[in-house]
Amino acid sequence: MASVTAYDLLRQRLPARPARWLVTGCAGFIGSHLVETLLELDQTVVGLDNFATGYARNLDEIRASATPARWRKFRFIEGDIRQVDDCRAACREIDYVLHQAALGSVPRSLADPRATNAANVDGFLNMLVAARDAGVKRFVYAASSSTYGDHPALPKVEENIGRPLSPYAVTKLVNELYAEVFGRCYGMDSIGLRYFNVFGPRQDPEGAYAAVIPRWTRAMLLGEEVRINGDGETSRDFCFVANAVQANLLAATTENPQAPGQICNVALNERTSLNTLFEMLREALLVHRPGHRVASPVHGDFRAGDVRHSQADISRAARLLGYAPTHRLADGLRLAMPWYLSRFSPAAPAAGREA
Ligand SMILES: NC(=O)c1ccc[n+]([C@@H]2O[C@H](COP(=O)([O-])OP(=O)(O)OC[C@H]3O[C@@H](n4cnc5c(N)ncnc54)[C@H](O)[C@@H]3O)[C@@H](O)[C@H]2O)c1
Repeated sequence: MASVTAYDLLRQRLPARPARWLVTGCAGFIGSHLVETLLELDQTVVGLDNFATGYARNLDEIRASATPARWRKFRFIEGDIRQVDDCRAACREIDYVLHQAALGSVPRSLADPRATNAANVDGFLNMLVAARDAGVKRFVYAASSSTYGDHPALPKVEENIGRPLSPYAVTKLVNELYAEVFGRCYGMDSIGLRYFNVFGPRQDPEGAYAAVIPRWTRAMLLGEEVRINGDGETSRDFCFVANAVQANLLAATTENPQAPGQICNVALNERTSLNTLFEMLREALLVHRPGHRVASPVHGDFRAGDVRHSQADISRAARLLGYAPTHRLADGLRLAMPWYLSRFSPAAPAAGREA
């Protein structure tokens, strides 16, 4: 029988000890899963989002799955982390901040570095100041594997980072530096989580900046061409969103005195090439739609700013937080597929901004 994990114990304990959580970026992909899980655990949750890349329909999905009593414990603030007053309003009487709001995507940052900087650096600093002044217990934030930049070592160990390869990577490195300095100068308690290619239901399949799994799933379902950047041997450590949720809840609540001020990788310590991912996605789709025809992928140029290989050493998260991922890539693809099927089935509404 599988042994009881730190996360099992936390999930048992939390409902009897409700706390007040702020999830920024709550209408986005990862943020919406954090809200959903926290409400399931009878927590009180404030969400902040400006719908820059998030959707009201993501919140609608949570409302549909929550009991009315739990949904009443959620308060949404439409606001912008670039405005410090919005951050202050959101941080009021909060115990734990899970800061997810940012503009993701390497290509977006290459196209418009100032927009990425405004949300990811100015907005991050506003959130730190607001959380510090509100006296929150801990500030957990979304860092990124892009911080490893051109460092060639595999698997990636937290202390060995290279030079950033994109404006986005710069912003995420700056987040870590600010969090560290706020710990040193103001005694602020923070933990950074370096996510590696998180995926799952509600990850946006639309637009030029969609991540690879939702982009390809959409293309396969609609019979469009799947384009692989480069030879397809580029590899990533794809991490199902439930694992990222686990890391956030553990990081916020751990009483390990070694944990505050640290940065931890969040993934699986597994590496999957894009060519293999394509086959796995096709298989996951065929389970639901036997006979669906998926054309062979087309290979294009390598993409600027992309690292060639990525794989996380997760021993620090395991040691400090008790992190133990529950879902491997194939599990996650199986669980994510129904969401994409409902989104792109012939009866589904056109993929617009609102539900
Ligand atoms: N998804 C991944 O693979 C991955 C990997 C590494 C790091 N991250 C980081 O994780 C976090 C969440 O990413 P995601 O994949 O859920 O992206 P997402 O785009 O789905 O969610 C981000 C949310 O932040 C909101 N937001 C953006 N700018 C804002 C602003 N100025 N004010 C208020 N809200 C704002 C967006 O509207 C959106 O709802 C981000 O910080 C991202 O950089 C994600």
